Amino acid sequence: MKIRNILLIGGTGFLGSQLACRLSAEGFRLRLPTRRRERAKRLLPLPTVEVIEADVHDPRVLSGLMEDQDAVINLVGILQGGRGQRGERYGSGFARTHVILPQKIVAAMKTAGVTRLLHVSALQAGPDAPSGYLRSKAEGEAVVLGSGLEATVFRPSVIFGEGDSFLNLFARLQKIAPILPLACPGARFQPVWVGDVAASIALSLARPESLGQSYDVCGPRQYTLRELVSYVGAVSGHSRPVIGLSDTLSYLQAWAMEFVPGGLMSRDNYYSMQVPNVCTEGCSLPFSLVPTPLEAVAESYLTS
Ligand SMILES: NC(=O)c1ccc[n+]([C@@H]2O[C@H](COP(=O)([O-])OP(=O)(O)OC[C@H]3O[C@@H](n4cnc5c(N)ncnc54)[C@H](OP(=O)(O)O)[C@@H]3O)[C@@H](O)[C@H]2O)c1
Repeated sequence: MKIRNILLIGGTGFLGSQLACRLSAEGFRLRLPTRRRERAKRLLPLPTVEVIEADVHDPRVLSGLMEDQDAVINLVGILQGGRGQRGERYGSGFARTHVILPQKIVAAMKTAGVTRLLHVSALQAGPDAPSGYLRSKAEGEAVVLGSGLEATVFRPSVIFGEGDSFLNLFARLQKIAPILPLACPGARFQPVWVGDVAASIALSLARPESLGQSYDVCGPRQYTLRELVSYVGAVSGHSRPVIGLSDTLSYLQAWAMEFVPGGLMSRDNYYSMQVPNVCTEGCSLPFSLVPTPLEAVAESYLTS
């Protein structure tokens, strides 16, 4: 079936905005629900994008959003979802956003007769992963892939690009702090450019071989967190001494940050960083896409 109308849930965020621009330029008609229309103001001028203020957690609202759609892309994700109560595998925020919402999306799609679902999870998500974030993402994947729909899952490593909240955070911190005490300095990442993630998702719409598949999505090179932070300091012109914290101090810093408004870091993030956020050998991007090096892009947005 030819896909023309797409419900893009979570389309106002960092990845979603890139994807919306790309799909709109390719002529797809996009319906973009958001909790706050203000969040989508950069996307309002796009000719084929319809922004709707809506609560996607309400099954009746979700059903309404599905009308006349040929496919659904779900990008909704959070990094801070609270801690699970006794016996729970993750906090209620993670449950609501990463598991229950996909269940509601699948149910609404089946009722509406929409069959194609693209879903973004996270690299190293797994049922036995050390963090609630990764365990809940794994459960969301299972919901999607076990739905019987024509589903494709994407599992990116950390994503970089203009407006990212990862490299930009370390650029901002080095601008204001004389030294940087860094938790988990040896944590490993294989950052992937936002344009490459958007391309992978967009291309899969026309690739029947992607049905039922789950793709790890990574950049061309692995780095430690310390290497990334030092690189960002050098490129942004605010290179500071980076003091790598021991494991115990990293945990304590993550715990202390839970009391600081803004959700910069939590113990759950510390647990996520205990698994290398890198692809297994040989894998990088689907559909023979060539991954963009960090160094080819980061300078353009970190130098201000
Ligand atoms: N960025 C990364 O480095 C990275 C790495 C691996 C995986 N991922 C995954 O990729 C996806 C996109 O990430 P991103 O960086 O683009 O995220 P983002 O910038 O934080 O955007 C998140 C999107 O989800 C929506 N959203 C957030 N919480 C919601 C809630 N409780 N209910 C309904 N909608 C909610 C937001 O919509 P409104 O605020 O407009 O309502 C926004 O459109 C996520 O699933 C994330 O877990 C990201």
